[in-house]
Amino acid sequence: MTTPTSLVAVTGSTGAIGGGVARRLSDAGVAQRLVVRDASRAPDLPGTEVVVASYGDRGAVRDALAGVDTVLMVSAHESDDRVGEHRTFVEAAAEAGVRQVVYLSFVGASATSGFLLGRDHGATEDVLRASGLDWTFLRDNFYAEMLPLWAGDDGTLRGPARDGRLAAVAQDDVADVAAVVLQDPRAHVGRTYDLTGPAAVSFAEVATMLTDATGREHHYVDETMDEARASRSGHDVPAWLVDAWISTYTAVADGELAAVSDDVATLTGHPATSVEEVVARAAKNR
Ligand SMILES: NC(=O)c1ccc[n+]([C@@H]2O[C@H](COP(=O)([O-])OP(=O)(O)OC[C@H]3O[C@@H](n4cnc5c(N)ncnc54)[C@H](OP(=O)(O)O)[C@@H]3O)[C@@H](O)[C@H]2O)c1
Repeated sequence: MTTPTSLVAVTGSTGAIGGGVARRLSDAGVAQRLVVRDASRAPDLPGTEVVVASYGDRGAVRDALAGVDTVLMVSAHESDDRVGEHRTFVEAAAEAGVRQVVYLSFVGASATSGFLLGRDHGATEDVLRASGLDWTFLRDNFYAEMLPLWAGDDGTLRGPARDGRLAAVAQDDVADVAAVVLQDPRAHVGRTYDLTGPAAVSFAEVATMLTDATGREHHYVDETMDEARASRSGHDVPAWLVDAWISTYTAVADGELAAVSDDVATLTGHPATSVEEVVARAAKNR
């Protein structure tokens, strides 16, 4: 259990996962420091203090993490320098005297991940392994809450995923796991957990779930690579991000997201939430 001297810092609390973790820790009476980019958007929770730092601001991170024992490091928004920002954050954490970083990573994170953004996570894990800090990696599958957002207004999910499957995980389950780990971090030093749903589903099955949840027809269209590039050409985003989006589907086609883990259930004591349940809830809230 935590002691009064083992201050926990939580990043990303203005977002879904970090916010969920901060609420759980507050409910559990754990003293925590929220590291945010904009204090006015920090959740207002009992037992929390709020400090401001962006990952790429070494001095601000060092100040923000002074006196902190363990930090939850939510991965930064995608950018062409995400690994550089993560490296600065980790180095500043070490300079501040942090003992352990719990990093929100991605399943199969490595330099050769078919999902291109998984390579950022692999590089960040390497930075942490080399940092001298203790670490715990929470390797999330895709968030099931995102799946309804991937459908176009015409009810079509499209991408070159063939009939591949993904074991998408509920964000609440990820937050539950992180809160458990942060309440006894030393028990999880050097551990890597794969956070997935209880079963892997295909995009055709997700389309059926969306049809059932919304009452509107949804379909999955298995695109070729050329079709995938063409259907995304209207977006005003850099080429590396389009490639990353498409690699979401090719990684599914190649089976990289299909493995089901029981780490959510083992760590939280409750079963992982089904993709169907999350998709139905998320679709209704759209
Ligand atoms: N597995 C998946 O399917 C999936 C899907 C989407 C994203 N992700 C990754 O998982 C992370 C957490 O997911 P989420 O749903 O909680 O995302 P989210 O709701 O977008 O929240 C991200 C949080 O990280 C903070 N943040 C981002 N970049 C930062 C930086 N450079 N310095 C300091 N803080 C920064 C954001 O702060 P602000 O509010 O100031 O922006 C926000 O609080 C995301 O950031 C992303 O890296 C995973």
